[in-house]
Amino acid sequence: MVLGKTLQDAINEQVKNELYSGYMYLAMAAYCEANNFPGAAKWMRMQAGEEQEHAMRLYDYVFDRGGRVTLQAIAQPPAEFKGLLDIFEQAYAHEQKVTGMINSLYAAAAKENDYATMSMLKWFIDEQVEEERNASQVVEMLKLAGTHIPAVMMLDGRLGARAE
Ligand SMILES: [Fe+2]
Ligand SMILES: [Fe+2]
Repeated sequence: MVLGKTLQDAINEQVKNELYSGYMYLAMAAYCEANNFPGAAKWMRMQAGEEQEHAMRLYDYVFDRGGRVTLQAIAQPPAEFKGLLDIFEQAYAHEQKVTGMINSLYAAAAKENDYATMSMLKWFIDEQVEEERNASQVVEMLKLAGTHIPAVMMLDGRLGARAE
């Protein structure tokens, strides 16, 4: 069954949203790099790569279903932040927003009885649980560290140990 036009448009929109997420994380990586947080910079850079993979997962799915991918303009992400806590709070808020987008996509697929798209989106639903948890965990740790510089440095080192 070929992908319906409404869902195709909605998935194309999400391809852009995932690419924007990657772009935003890359902007955060650049800020961390410039502000001597090499660990957080690495974490953000890896996260940017993951978002790119998310976009490609949707991209491939559209073609698997005989659809057409139309790339859209990606907005400019913010360049300035108030510090590490601000960055991770924004990341957490962003992931919550993305969860809402994935949920809406799922609802749209359910409305059209497009079971294949619902099944494909199941991966994203699970992934968002992890994405929210990861970001909120760092927010909580940064709050604990507060303005204690050695604690923040240690946390940065821990973020830099991210392996996947
Ligand atoms: Fe994503
Ligand atoms: Fe994400």
